[in-house]
Amino acid sequence: MNIIFLGAPGAGKGTQARKLVADFGLVQLSTGDMLRESQSSNTEIGKKVASIMNPGELVSDDIVISLIKERLSNTHATGFIFDGFPRTIGQAGALDTLLDVHDTSITAVIEMKVDNEALVDRITGRYTCAECGEVYHESSRPLLPTSVCIKCGSVKLKKRIDDNEESLRTRLDEYNNKTAPLIEYYLNKGILYSVDGLEEIEVINSAINKILLK
Ligand code: AP5
Repeated sequence: MNIIFLGAPGAGKGTQARKLVADFGLVQLSTGDMLRESQSSNTEIGKKVASIMNPGELVSDDIVISLIKERLSNTHATGFIFDGFPRTIGQAGALDTLLDVHDTSITAVIEMKVDNEALVDRITGRYTCAECGEVYHESSRPLLPTSVCIKCGSVKLKKRIDDNEESLRTRLDEYNNKTAPLIEYYLNKGILYSVDGLEEIEVINSAINKILLK
C-alpha cells in the first residue's frame, strides 16, 4: 500500500502520517524532514536548501526527486506514506516512473481540506520535540502539564524557522500555484479521496482508515 498525503502547510499531513505508520506499519517519507536533515549538515547544499525553505519557497524538483529515489532504493517496506511529496506535476510524474521501476504504484491520495484561518493558527502554534520530532500545538495538542514529550520523554522543544506568518503566505502561494493542480491529476487517475481536515485528529484518522480499508 502506497499513500500520498496532499494538503496545504499545516493541514495535518505529518500528524496523520505518523498515525498510519502505527496503524499499518508503513514507512513515512517526508521530503520536508529530509530537507531539514540536509540543512543540519551545514554543507553548501544544506545552506542552499535553507535559503529556499526558510522564506517558504519550494526546493527544485531535481533535489527532492533524488532524495526520494535514494530512499526508495534503500528502504525495504511493505508500503510508503509520501508526506509532502509530490508537490508539482513534474514530481508526480517522476514518482509514477520510480514506483513503476519498483513494480508498484500509488494506492490512494488523501487530500486534507483545511481553511486558511485554521492553517495560520496551526502553523503559528506548532512546536516539535527536538529529539524525536513529535508534533504538538499550543492549544490543540499541548504538552502541559508535564512538559515532557509523550513519545521520547525529552523536555527539549523547538519551533520551525519557516513557521511564521510571512513564510506561511509564501508557502500557501506555492501550494495554490504549484501543488493544488495535483488534485486534478490524481482525480483523473481515480485515486483521489478528500477528508475534512478541520475535524479532530482521531476523527480524521478514522476517516482515512475507512478509505484505506474499503
Ligand atoms: P514540509 O515540512 O512538508 O511542510 P508543509 O507542507 O508546509 O507542511 P507542515 O509540515 O507545515 O504541515 P503538516 O500538514 O504536516 O501539519 P502537521 O501535522 O505538522 O515542507 C517544508 C518546506 O520544505 C517547504 O515549504 C519547501 O520549502 C520544502 N519542501 C518539502 N517538500 C518539498 C517538495 N516535495 N518539493 C519542494 N520543496 C519541498 O500539523 C500542523 C499543526 O496542527 C501541529 O501543531 C498539529 O499538532 C496541529 N494539528 C494537526 N491536525 C490537527 C487537527 N485535526 N486539529 C487541530 N490541530 C491539528
